[in-house]
Amino acid sequence: MALNSGRVRRNARLTGRVIRHPMRCSMFTVRFFTGFLTIAVSVSFAVWFLFAYSNSDDVDVGFPVNAYGSSSSSYWRSMLALKSDALKPRLHQVLKQAEGHRNLAVAYASYARKLKLENSKLLRIFTELSQKYTDLISNYQGLLDSGSSSIDESVLRQLEKEVKEQVKLMRKVISEAKESFDNQLKIHKLKDTIFALNEQLTKAKKQGAFSSLIAAKSIPKSLHCLVLRLMRERIAHPEKYADEGNPPKPEIEDPKLYHYAIFSDNVIAASVVVNSAVKNTREPWKHVFHVVTDKMNLGAMQVMFKMQDYGGAHIEVKAVEDYKFLNSSYVPVLKQKDSVSLQQFYFENKLENATKDTTNMKFRNPKYLSILNHLRFYLPEMYPKLHKILFLDDDIVVQRELTGLWEIDMDGNINGAVETCFGSFHRYAQYMNFSHPLIKSRFSPNACAWAYGMNFFDLDAWRRKKCTEEYHYWQTLNENRTLWKLGTLPAGLLTYYSTTRPLEKSWHILGLGYNPSISMNEIKNAAVIHFNGNMKPWLDIAITKYRPLWTKYVDYGNEHARSCNFGL
Ligand SMILES: *[C@@H]1O[C@H](CO)[C@@H](O)[C@H](O)[C@H]1NC(C)=O
Ligand SMILES: *[C@@H]1O[C@H](CO)[C@@H](O)[C@H](O)[C@H]1NC(C)=O
Ligand SMILES: *[C@@H]1O[C@H](CO)[C@@H](O)[C@H](O)[C@H]1NC(C)=O
Ligand SMILES: *[C@@H]1O[C@H](CO)[C@@H](O)[C@H](O)[C@H]1NC(C)=O
Repeated sequence: MALNSGRVRRNARLTGRVIRHPMRCSMFTVRFFTGFLTIAVSVSFAVWFLFAYSNSDDVDVGFPVNAYGSSSSSYWRSMLALKSDALKPRLHQVLKQAEGHRNLAVAYASYARKLKLENSKLLRIFTELSQKYTDLISNYQGLLDSGSSSIDESVLRQLEKEVKEQVKLMRKVISEAKESFDNQLKIHKLKDTIFALNEQLTKAKKQGAFSSLIAAKSIPKSLHCLVLRLMRERIAHPEKYADEGNPPKPEIEDPKLYHYAIFSDNVIAASVVVNSAVKNTREPWKHVFHVVTDKMNLGAMQVMFKMQDYGGAHIEVKAVEDYKFLNSSYVPVLKQKDSVSLQQFYFENKLENATKDTTNMKFRNPKYLSILNHLRFYLPEMYPKLHKILFLDDDIVVQRELTGLWEIDMDGNINGAVETCFGSFHRYAQYMNFSHPLIKSRFSPNACAWAYGMNFFDLDAWRRKKCTEEYHYWQTLNENRTLWKLGTLPAGLLTYYSTTRPLEKSWHILGLGYNPSISMNEIKNAAVIHFNGNMKPWLDIAITKYRPLWTKYVDYGNEHARSCNFGL
């Protein structure tokens, strides 16, 4: 999280989630074509601006830019004519606008051709549109080239009107076509997925995995926009947001209230978690949300949570750096992050080799050692006065009252979680190295794995059983990654082995970030839905049908979120 992956999601974070290679392949298709479209559109706009610009140069300066070109004489001719007629620059502008849109139509037509859209209607429409522009341009170009000293204003008005209508039509067609392109891509994607499930990991897939990792790691523009705006607000009004020096409100430490822990570097995701929890509880003022972020996002997070009332719920925003006991002499992952060999392992990875080896690329992502990800192992020390706490990932949405969790008899167990195993899948054997004698002697390879994302922790039992020490023991042993490869889930599986209490499945439905075929009924009845996987709801690669479940809780009353186009 330290570097560019900072505000990025724990997308590929493998805490409790399956690695779905097949999806990646199809994602490549999506990225490729989206990329192509972007390039095509930008190129045509660039061409258009170039023309418009050099053209206006001609008009204003009265000097032909293209003085050495073959058309220089015609330039001079039009220059002379232009000087004699004030309407000509306007005509020039209108024609250039038409030309720009013709290029755009051509770009879209070739895009439709490339995609081999099943209905060639779009291809036809765009070809027709570009022809219309060509006709318009050639009809009126004569006026410029004729050298006649004046242009009838009514003729120019007519041209302007026609171009305007064409542009309007074109905009409409483009916005409709975009949807059609998108749907087409989604169909491709689904086909790819089904097909790829039975496929070997081919080279193409590796490339697909790579692009999807890049897509998932890039910070979406709207999130970036939001963080910048919130930071600007924070800097402009420090007195409104800083909590430093004030003692915490008594509610923050009141063990009789319902406490939640949310560790996130994504302001919008964290606010959706809190908002959804608050909206689905009868007595929000009895709930306390402990949001912890990194130093970089602290200001933005403080502003985000002060701008709204959240029904009287109590919200504490802190930076992980505020917890002084988390230093490298105490916390193994911090020590390991400092170690030279690991630095090399995580940062030396060059692009050339990375594209060849996506599996390794994941292992080398520094976010797997991020302290924000490992904070979940320090809950009893972070909240010394509390007895129970609910840990929530930032890629979840709460859909139901959760207070029932506090009623569950934990029966001496520490971690309440939903189990994820079925058949031979998601068993301990898949998460850790059973060739290692320590693992083999202490664990059963068939033990059922559970999921991180919504975990109810009994902090008293945790303190009694010294679970943090247990975690330290395993994390230290794993410095050379012989016990497990990456993520916090294997560490959790080792730490809470035999102290995990399985929860009823409808508490926590997983997979909305990679699995397009979860039953909508199951989703509707879930207390918490979890967008684990790469296709996060705030990314443009999100699975469309699940996205409204998340955007529903984006706070559109927040002027900053609104003006950064969230959920559009
Ligand atoms: C690290 O934190 C521990 C408490 O967890 C403390 O005893 C120790 O002095 C700290 N070390 C440093 C170098 O700050
Ligand atoms: C890529 O890997 C090869 C073999 O592991 C290594 O020799 C080479 O230096 C690496 N290239 C880069 C750019 O890191
Ligand atoms: C990994 O580290 C442990 C001690 O932490 C050591 O006993 C073991 O030999 C190491 N394994 C490898 C493959 O380096
Ligand atoms: C699993 O553990 C054994 C024994 O320590 C070790 O030799 C082997 O390299 C480990 N496997 C992996 C994939 O790290």
